Amino acid sequence: MNYKIASIAGDGIGPEIVREARKVLDKIGQKYGHTFEYEELLMGGCSIDVYGESLTDETLEKAKACDSILLGAVGGNVGQSNWYQIEPSKRPEAGLLKIRKGLGLYANIRPAILFDELSGACPLKPELTEGGFDFVVMRELTGGLYFGERKTIEENGVTKAIDTLSYDENEIRRIAKWGFDVAMKRNKKVCSVDKANVLDSSRLWRKVVKEVAKDYPEVELTDMLVDNCAMQLVRDPKQFDVILTENMFGDILSDEASMVTGSIGMLSSASLGATKLGLYEPSHGSAPDIAGQNKANPIATILSAAMMLRYSFDLEEEADAVENAVKQVLKDGYRTVDIMAEGKTCVGTTEMGDLIAERI
Ligand code: NAD
Ligand code: IPM
Ligand code: MN
Repeated sequence: MNYKIASIAGDGIGPEIVREARKVLDKIGQKYGHTFEYEELLMGGCSIDVYGESLTDETLEKAKACDSILLGAVGGNVGQSNWYQIEPSKRPEAGLLKIRKGLGLYANIRPAILFDELSGACPLKPELTEGGFDFVVMRELTGGLYFGERKTIEENGVTKAIDTLSYDENEIRRIAKWGFDVAMKRNKKVCSVDKANVLDSSRLWRKVVKEVAKDYPEVELTDMLVDNCAMQLVRDPKQFDVILTENMFGDILSDEASMVTGSIGMLSSASLGATKLGLYEPSHGSAPDIAGQNKANPIATILSAAMMLRYSFDLEEEADAVENAVKQVLKDGYRTVDIMAEGKTCVGTTEMGDLIAERI
C-alpha cells in the first residue's frame, strides 16, 4: 500500500527526530512492502519566518489531504527573555492548536510505559516500580482553557488578564467514550481526573463520565482530584491503567508521567478524532537547549510513528515491529544522553535511529 504522510519537522530538535522516525518508517516500508510518501510542510517558528504565521490555511488543507501527520515539535527558546510577550495567536504554538482543532483531533493518547530495561532511569525508588508499569494518559485536546476566550484588558487603571475554561457535555462525552474504549482493550480501569471540588467544568466532567461509564459495566471507574493525581503518579504509578482528563490537566500530568518512564524523550503521543487521519508527535517540545547537537532522544517520535502505523493505517504487525526494535536497542545497552546509565553505551540521535532501523 502507498501512504501519504504530512511530515512537519517544525522547530528546534524537530527536524532531527522526525528524520529518525522517517528512517524507521522507511525500513518498515522496505520490509513489509509499503510505500510512505512524505509531503514536507512548515509549521511553527519556521513557518512564521516564511509566511508570517505558524500554520497557513493552505498548509492545513494540504495536511488534511494526507493519510496521517508526523510532527516533530514547534516553539522557540523559552529561555529567551520576554518571549512570552508575543501574544498566543502569533506564537509558533498557535499552529499546533490550529491543526489539532482544524482536524478535530480531540482525543490525545499518551502511553507511559516503563520498559524493564529503563527501570534504572526512573527516578522513583525501585520497589515502587518493580515489574514496570504501563498506563495511558487520555487527554481531551480541543477544549478547555486552550480554546476559551482570552484577553488582556485595562480596568480602572489595572491590567487584567482573562482565560476562560469551558466544556460542554458533548465534548466530555466523546472523550470519555474514547477513554472507556481504550480501557476495554487494556486492564479495564479508568481513573477520571478533575478538580470537581472547585470548578464547574469539572463537576460537569464528573457527571458526564459517570453517565458514560454505565455503558461500560466491565470497566472500573474511579475519580481523582488532579492535585492528588499529581502526587499518586510519583507515589504509586502502577495503580493506573487509563487516566482520563481535560486538556490542561492532561498536559501537565503527561509531562510528569514521562519522567517516571525515564525521560520526556520516551513519551509518544497520538491525536485522533472522528476519522483515521491522526497527528503523531512526541509529547515533548522543541528542546531549544539541545537543538542541532545530535543529543535528542528520537524514541518518543519513533514510538509515535508506531502509533501511526497502528491507529491510522491498521498495520498492527508493523507497529509491533517498531516497538520491539526499540525494546531490543535498549536491551542491547544503547542510550541517548537523557536516559544514559552506568555501563551503557551513549549514542546520538542519528545513531539511535540507525540502531532501531537495523533491528526491524
Ligand atoms: P521541552 O519539552 O522542549 O524541553 C524540556 C526539557 O526536556 C529540556 O531540557 C529538553 O532538552 C528536554 N527534552 C525534551 N525533549 C527531549 C528529547 N527528545 N531528548 C532529550 N531531551 C529532551 O519543553 P520546554 O523547554 O518547556 O519548551 C520548549 C519549546 O517547545 C516551547 O516553545 C514550547 O512551547 C514548545 N513545546 C512544543 C510542543 C509540541 O510541539 N508538541 C510540546 C511542548 C513544548
Ligand atoms: C504539548 C505541548 C502543547 C500543549 C503546547 C506547545 C501548546 O505542551 O503538546 O504537550 O500544551 O498542548
Ligand atoms: Mn505539554
